[in-house]
Amino acid sequence: MTGHVQAPARAGRERTPASAHEAPPGAARALPMIAVLVLCAAAMAFGEWGAELGLSELSVYKVLRLVHIVVAVIAFGSTFGIPVLMPLAGRGGVATLRVALHFAEQLEEKIVVPGSLLVAATGGGLILSDLSGYQDDLPAWIIVAIALWVIAAVVAFAVQNPAVKRALAVLEDADDTGPVPQALGPIAGQLDRVGKVLALLAILSLFLMTWRPGLW
Ligand code: HEM
Repeated sequence: MTGHVQAPARAGRERTPASAHEAPPGAARALPMIAVLVLCAAAMAFGEWGAELGLSELSVYKVLRLVHIVVAVIAFGSTFGIPVLMPLAGRGGVATLRVALHFAEQLEEKIVVPGSLLVAATGGGLILSDLSGYQDDLPAWIIVAIALWVIAAVVAFAVQNPAVKRALAVLEDADDTGPVPQALGPIAGQLDRVGKVLALLAILSLFLMTWRPGLW
């Protein structure tokens, strides 16, 4: 968020201009996502054909698993700070809350979405690797993990993101130095509840990945 935050608002009706948080135009905005999709395809291809590059099957597997875990930690771990940030930002007033909500929005766009795509792709690469044998016999815990990933993606995309945008819209015309609008209350409550559900889905996925229960 550095470079986007303006100097604190002086007393009176001044407020942080919206342009401080606006995203780059279309094409420039699509490029990072195209790069992530190319990386995802490369992770899957590496799982399937990595050994033909002269690496051992085990090395291919270890590289994919390392990337899988590191990206999962960064993508999902980063969201666990938001429930600490939001109450603090709420006590700081309208301008602080607006920056915190923009932070959550940009964290989602720049870290969580690309990260969760890469987690799925490296997971897919691990399944395609001959070492695991998951291609021929996909265990239940992976099927459930994929289902949880899809549920989390739908909830984040269809419920949480629009709620962040609604919260920002409520703060749009609020005075930086004035009270936080009452209309924000129910939205903040929903953001908190859905945030807890998404956190639970991430922890459940981690349990499946490490405990690998024999479900059926
Ligand atoms: C589409 C979703 C996912 C797929 C297809 C997937 C697939 C896999 C596969 C095939 C493995 C290797 C298991 C083995 O070594 O036998 C694995 C390991 C792992 N995954 Fe995932 N995964 C997914 C999502 C996640 C998520 C969301 C997380 C974290 C929140 C995660 C964390 C891990 C961890 C920590 C390991 C290493 C477990 C260990 O070595 O004990 N995965 N995953």
